[in-house]
Amino acid sequence: MENNTNKNLILRNLTGKRTSSVPIWLMRQAGRYLPEYRKIRQAKGSFLDLCYSPKLAAEITLQPVRRFGFDAAILFSDILVIPDALGQRVSFEEGLGPVLEPLTPQEPLLVDRVDRLKNDSLHKLDAVYETIERVAAEKKDDCALIGFAGGPWTVATYMVEGGSSRDFLKIRRWATCNPTSFGSLINTLTDATIAHLDAQINAGVEVLQIFESHAGVLDCFGFDQWVIKPTRRIVDTIKGKHPHIPIIGFPRGAAAQIPVFILETKVDAVSLDQSVPLNWASSEISDSFPVQGNLDPIYLLGDPAELSVHVSRVLSAFANRPFVFNLGHGVNKETDPKSVERLVEIVRDYNHRSPKET
Ligand code: CP3
Repeated sequence: MENNTNKNLILRNLTGKRTSSVPIWLMRQAGRYLPEYRKIRQAKGSFLDLCYSPKLAAEITLQPVRRFGFDAAILFSDILVIPDALGQRVSFEEGLGPVLEPLTPQEPLLVDRVDRLKNDSLHKLDAVYETIERVAAEKKDDCALIGFAGGPWTVATYMVEGGSSRDFLKIRRWATCNPTSFGSLINTLTDATIAHLDAQINAGVEVLQIFESHAGVLDCFGFDQWVIKPTRRIVDTIKGKHPHIPIIGFPRGAAAQIPVFILETKVDAVSLDQSVPLNWASSEISDSFPVQGNLDPIYLLGDPAELSVHVSRVLSAFANRPFVFNLGHGVNKETDPKSVERLVEIVRDYNHRSPKET
């Protein structure tokens, strides 16, 4: 445990130590903006098949690390492998994004399927764990391997809305009108998420990130019930078994609820989206608490000089705390890989005003 911590800049920052060199990885660092990904994707056809092909998925996981020298590899998979493994039909359609057969309050709540998942008789996700084993065997020690899952609320939005949504009306109505049955769905997803994250750690991931991408559509009561409480149960259970694995929370859109999210979920670090003002983050989040983020990915599509200005603003704002450079959301598929290369160079060249190794 400790020896890894020494070699790895990301692990050091996520465990509360500031390093003079700022580590960097990007959400969606693997994917369609990379020609080497598009080539494999075209040959394979289906995105989900790719997620369940350990050799190809391991290769895709490592592509951005080889190309850009990132300090972390994130497992190539998706948050929607959970509903897929639980037996809900999931597909990814060109131009539409994910399409699921929507779940309604009248459906059975998949509880028996979760039990099967926990008993390890549901083998669909074994391919994901094999991907992890392959990446762990191939990657260098100074590159952290990040595993992940969607937060139960965010995964439930896809399961109930049947895909992406503009107003999230179906799920918000279910959660409000029938909180008991909706609570069982969230409970079921929380159990499945715990089992999935535990298995990822056993296969070799060194860090976890929980993507709560649609946290921002809830009011503070909903946020407490459907985001904070399930996240806390995930963190408590995983920490009970694996106390040394840092967990990053990404409560996208949570805005002023970020401090209470940090306090109550007990995550080790928070990933900030680009709507969080830098000075607000500096004043409202304790400067010993590890932060990740939060460059707007749109700057990767713009003028290189502008990119440099905005990267420097983020770096300066978080210069005196444990920090991992990232975007506020995923890399856009229109991004030129050269912009990402430039971004990595800017971060590498950055000279801290007051370098401080702890
Ligand atoms: O590089 C990485 O970040 C690792 C792999 C990863 C993917 N999805 C691959 C992917 C990760 C961590 C995710 C997380 C994910 N998936 C989230 C949370 C983060 C976020 O973006 O808010 C969500 C909400 C999903 C669900 C999902 N998957 C959507 C809405 C879509 C369609 C939109 C899109 O960008 O295509 C996907 C598909 C998806 N997931 C692709 C990739 C590389 C594109 C698949 C393709 O067509 O090749």
